[in-house]
Order: sequence, then C-alpha cells, then structure tokens
Amino acid sequence: MTDYQGILNRIYDEIQPLLGQGKVADYIPALAEKDSHKFGMVIKLIDGSTFKIGDADEQFSIQSISKVLTLTTVVKESVDFLKTRCGKEPSGTPFNSLVQLEYENGIPRNPFINAGALVTTDQMYTNFNNPKRDFLKFVRKVSGDKDVSYNEKIARSEEQTGYRNAALVNLMKDFNNIDNDVDKVLDTYFHQCSLEMNCEQLCDTFSFLANRGVNPKTGERILSIRRAKRINAIMLTCGTYDAVGDVAYRIGLPAKSGVGGGIVALVPGELTVSVWSPGLDKKGNSLAGIKALELFTTYAENSIF
Ligand code: DON
Repeated sequence: MTDYQGILNRIYDEIQPLLGQGKVADYIPALAEKDSHKFGMVIKLIDGSTFKIGDADEQFSIQSISKVLTLTTVVKESVDFLKTRCGKEPSGTPFNSLVQLEYENGIPRNPFINAGALVTTDQMYTNFNNPKRDFLKFVRKVSGDKDVSYNEKIARSEEQTGYRNAALVNLMKDFNNIDNDVDKVLDTYFHQCSLEMNCEQLCDTFSFLANRGVNPKTGERILSIRRAKRINAIMLTCGTYDAVGDVAYRIGLPAKSGVGGGIVALVPGELTVSVWSPGLDKKGNSLAGIKALELFTTYAENSIF
C-alpha cells in the first residue's frame, strides 16, 4: 500500500521555498486578497480514503476548474457540441487570448480556454431552465455537498473588470456562435467561476471522472464511460492551457487548473488529487501546485504513462 500521507508530508516540506514566489491573480481584484504563502493538498482514493496536508480545508475560488463541470452538463444533453460549436485541440495560446478566435471564425479551439468555456456556458444556458440555479444544483449533487455556493463578491468583481471575456463573447456572437444574450451568458460564466471549494470538496467533485463516470460515494452514473474518457482526455490536452505539454511531461495526469490557484488531477480508476496555492506562474497555473503534483506522481510512481 502506498504511503500517501508520507508522500504528502515530503511534498509539503519540499515546496516550502516556492511559497510566495508566484503572483496572486489580481486582474480579478477580489482574488488578490488571498495570501500567496497558503498551500493545501488532498489525495482521495476511489474507496474514500483521504489524506490531507496544509490549508486543505480552506475554501478558494475554483475559477476555470468549473469549465470541466459545465462541459459535463453540456455533453450529457448536446452530443454534437464538440463537433459543431467548439474544438478539442490545445490552443497553444494564453487562456484569454482573442487572436486565434478571429482567424478560426469564432469557433474556440477547446472548451477550457475562456472562449470555449463561454460557448459552453451559452449551450448550458439553452439547455437549462434556470442555468445559474440548475448548474449549482448539479455541482452540489456531484460534490455531495449542499453547501457549495457561488461567491457573489468574486462574481461581481470579475463582472466589473471582465472586459476581455466581454470581447470574446461579443466576437463569437458576431460569428453566430452565441445563441443567448451576451450579458446573461457572462453573468452565468462569472458565477460558475466564483464557485468556492476546498481541496477535499474538489477531490469529491471530480471523483466521478476518476471512476469511469460513476460517483463512487452514491453509485450514481453521472456520465457514460466513453464521455468520462473524453473529458479526461481534454483535461490532459487542454486543461492547463499553453502549459499542457510541460504538465503532461512533468506530471502525466489529466488536470485542470484555475487562476484561484487550485488544480485538480486524477488517476483513472484510482484516485483524485487536488492542490491549492494562490501564487501563479506566468501561464496562470499555481506555481507550487504544479511542483507538488510533479512530486506526487514521482514519489507515488503513478501516472497515466
Ligand atoms: O475568465 C477568467 O479569466 C477567469 N474567471 C477564469 C480564468 C482561469 O481560471 C484560467 N486559469 N488558469
């Protein structure tokens, strides 16, 4: 049996010099309030065994990690979404880039860059009666936690400064790839990004993707085996933006990051692992978090490769 707690203790010691080196995201002013010295990490096996270290119980804004969850609701209802409205190739560009979108006629490269996530939210808006409420209900179900909520202050803070996202959604509207009102799509997107979780809740939420589409706590099937495989594949190839090659090379797991400093990764059939440290590297991924996950797959001698 792998000594997961021992591995976490070792990682915690080794990442200490990195804390404070990254830069907390301040383009969303409310995110800048977190201390870049914070660090938490959780490993959760499919059987529920849980191992924690550091600030693992502190809640943070999951930001782009929510894009995996909106995509999950959309692929359940709209089977052609990834054929018609959004691609599934790495973009090789920053997560909020506008340039490629114009060349490619308003079809985003993948659902995890901001443009792709906005189209996903637009599709969710079409599929749900009350998208903000229904999406939250879905997240509460997969996380198994009825207290998971949006943070209105963070959603408002992003709304007040979200000029790039407004530009992306308007450009796609011009290319007829947004069906709903742009302000309503943006409002839902800012709210999904403002969802707050701690590391353990994040592991619980993603455990259906580690368990071939079935929530291991309840036994409920959330996605088919084939769709779970596909979402994991997109996490591997697009989940950490223009750092995906480096992340596959160093970590070797499907992973999704957010500018709140969270990253969740999984070993299919075995476990979920999440890490939070708000100091980001130049590509917008948690600096200490990426290192911690690299150390995890190295010490556990476990990756998908
Ligand atoms: O739209 C944004 O810019 C943020 N709400 C989310 C970006 C994000 O988390 C990208 N992650 N690395």
